[in-house]
Amino acid sequence: MSIFVTSPSLPPLDEFIPYLRKIWENKWLTNNGEFHREFEAKLAEYLGVKYVSLFTNGMIALQVGMQALRITGEVITTPFTFVATTHAIHWNNCTPVFCDIEPDTFTLDPAKVESLITPRTTAIMPVHVYGNPCKVEELKRIADTYGLKLFYDAAHVFGVKKDGASILNWGDLSMLSFHATKVFNTFEGGALITNDETMKKRIDFLKNFGFAGETTVVAPGSNGKMDEFRAAYGLLQLKMVDGEIEKRHQVAIRYREALRNVPGIRCLYDLPDVRHNYSYFPILVHEAEYGLSRDALYDKLKAHGIYSRRYFYPLCSDFPTYRGLPSAAPANLPVATKVAQQVLCLPMFAELSKNDQASIINAITG
Ligand SMILES: Cc1ncc(COP(=O)(O)O)c(C=O)c1O
Repeated sequence: MSIFVTSPSLPPLDEFIPYLRKIWENKWLTNNGEFHREFEAKLAEYLGVKYVSLFTNGMIALQVGMQALRITGEVITTPFTFVATTHAIHWNNCTPVFCDIEPDTFTLDPAKVESLITPRTTAIMPVHVYGNPCKVEELKRIADTYGLKLFYDAAHVFGVKKDGASILNWGDLSMLSFHATKVFNTFEGGALITNDETMKKRIDFLKNFGFAGETTVVAPGSNGKMDEFRAAYGLLQLKMVDGEIEKRHQVAIRYREALRNVPGIRCLYDLPDVRHNYSYFPILVHEAEYGLSRDALYDKLKAHGIYSRRYFYPLCSDFPTYRGLPSAAPANLPVATKVAQQVLCLPMFAELSKNDQASIINAITG
């Protein structure tokens, strides 16, 4: 028996066949087809945002978003993220400046951002990591005060709301990922979210080689377009996603109840006024109190056929491309360094059975 850290939820195949039939009839495979237009509109409605630009994946959306915002120079960001965030900054010929994170949510610590601003800083790229909203009000105040762009890597926050409104409405842009491992997937896929019509237009030019018309190229664009197959699949997934989130919620409740009093194991809990999406279930392992290190627990689970993941270890600031940067020094990133050493993401997906979850819990507590 193997239990993986995640498992994608697929809609019934029968329900997808009529969509495929339509694609075969239309013979319109990509380039803003019927399903693409419908998916953008339905997603904007579901998410409670004005404009959605669909992408072939989240990484290209990040790269294109930085171009759309004309970000240059230094970008203040978190080291506690998937490498895509830092790589997008590097691919845009910008320098990532790593800033430490909050001990409770593992998101960028606004109190530490201001001291990192220099004349070369043009943007802040925070990450709503594990679906936990960043301190958006404080980050907005800093960005407004210093005239910086605010571009959220929102890969993990599909469906997350704060005070009843989408978290995606904060900042100049937000990027969603629809990768197979996410709460909402289109196999591969992603989107940029904006409330600015002109920005939406510019993003759409940039994701289509810079074309603004048949013979007009207005910018050195890329190819980030989502095709009709995945847009159609996304429409079907959208019908399922609230049920998915509720099932994940129940899994989280069971983990929290079982692990609440285990010495040396710390779970994260729901934040007030936030609708979470339970995209991950991270725990922190305190070696002295638990009796095993995080890595020893990881190995123990593996021996039971349970594949947890050490997201996000190593920190991005520890990878060879970035570790020489002055801001990458572990002494500047004490919270991130400690969390990266202690964190373990347990299996979390809608169809995780009670039996399998009990095996995971027994392996941790036994
Ligand atoms: C925080 C974060 N940023 C960016 C990405 C990149 O998204 P994609 O895999 O859709 O390219 C991911 C996930 O894969 C992610 O977890």
